[in-house]
Amino acid sequence: MPFPTHRLRRLRATEALRSLVRETRLDPARFILPLFVCPGEGVKREIGSMPDNYQMSIDQLVKECAEVQALGIGGIILFGLPESKDEMASGAYDENGIVQRAIRAIRRETPGLLVMTDVCNCEYTSHGHCGYIKDGAVDNDITLEWLAKAALSHVRAGADIVAPSDMMDGRVGAIRRALDAGGFEKTPILAYAAKFASVFYGPFREAAESAPQFGDRRGYQMDPANGREAMREIELDIEEGADMVMVKPAMPYLDLIWQARQRFDVPIAAYQVSGEYAMIMAAARNGWLDQERAMMESLTSIARAGAGVILTYFAKPAARSLA
Ligand code: PBG
Repeated sequence: MPFPTHRLRRLRATEALRSLVRETRLDPARFILPLFVCPGEGVKREIGSMPDNYQMSIDQLVKECAEVQALGIGGIILFGLPESKDEMASGAYDENGIVQRAIRAIRRETPGLLVMTDVCNCEYTSHGHCGYIKDGAVDNDITLEWLAKAALSHVRAGADIVAPSDMMDGRVGAIRRALDAGGFEKTPILAYAAKFASVFYGPFREAAESAPQFGDRRGYQMDPANGREAMREIELDIEEGADMVMVKPAMPYLDLIWQARQRFDVPIAAYQVSGEYAMIMAAARNGWLDQERAMMESLTSIARAGAGVILTYFAKPAARSLA
């Protein structure tokens, strides 16, 4: 029956009614906070393009982790800034590397906190690319060996979940085999399955000091135009043994989060990346957007699209706002 029988505004009249029929609710337990660990002692350096986010030495990082845990946030994902970089990304799979030491410290200080690690080489190579360079391009299969070693070293140090973000073909299978052979058949893999060659990673590359010194990442990360290919990437990662899959970035790719949610019965994660965060913060600092509302609306949209897990630099303020 047409108007005036149906009046959708009836259920919007008061906050009590709106709350009763709200379809999507956020919960800090589904947030993962990305953290950047650097060498030194007492270091807490704010990242220029990512206000309220820091490069932290291990002693500062463990304090941050205690706060994250107290806020009921689902966990953290760690990125490392090594002492030095080389052609072979040796810092990435060094048993005593920056991330490996950080994991051990976090395990000691906040044993219950869920610790994920980003498995990639770009923060550790002198050229800033995600793997071994052969004939001017990243060689897939040699890079797989580095990734498998890195993942194994993270899990040995105590990581709960490893998350490969390099976009090499076959990395999930290679990491699964290495973990199983090392006796870690119970450790899950979260694959950055549909990861696009996105301009929105710009601020992160300042934070992680990982900008490529020549060329770009379009030879391995996905073309933003390709949605069907994203579904193939996800399907292959699940076949290779991924326990969870990720779409990244989040807000420009909500259609793919939604499609993935419809097609695959594994947990779907989405990464609200550095550029998404920076845009909101920059507008808010200019007085052009309300920061609190932009944060909550963007996170709600990502959840509504179908992401069960959200990696976000807003994890702390959003958790406080939900408390
Ligand atoms: C490592 C990696 C990147 C991000 C997560 N892991 C950078 C890149 O691929 O260039 C980006 C995260 C963000 O922008 O917040 N490969």
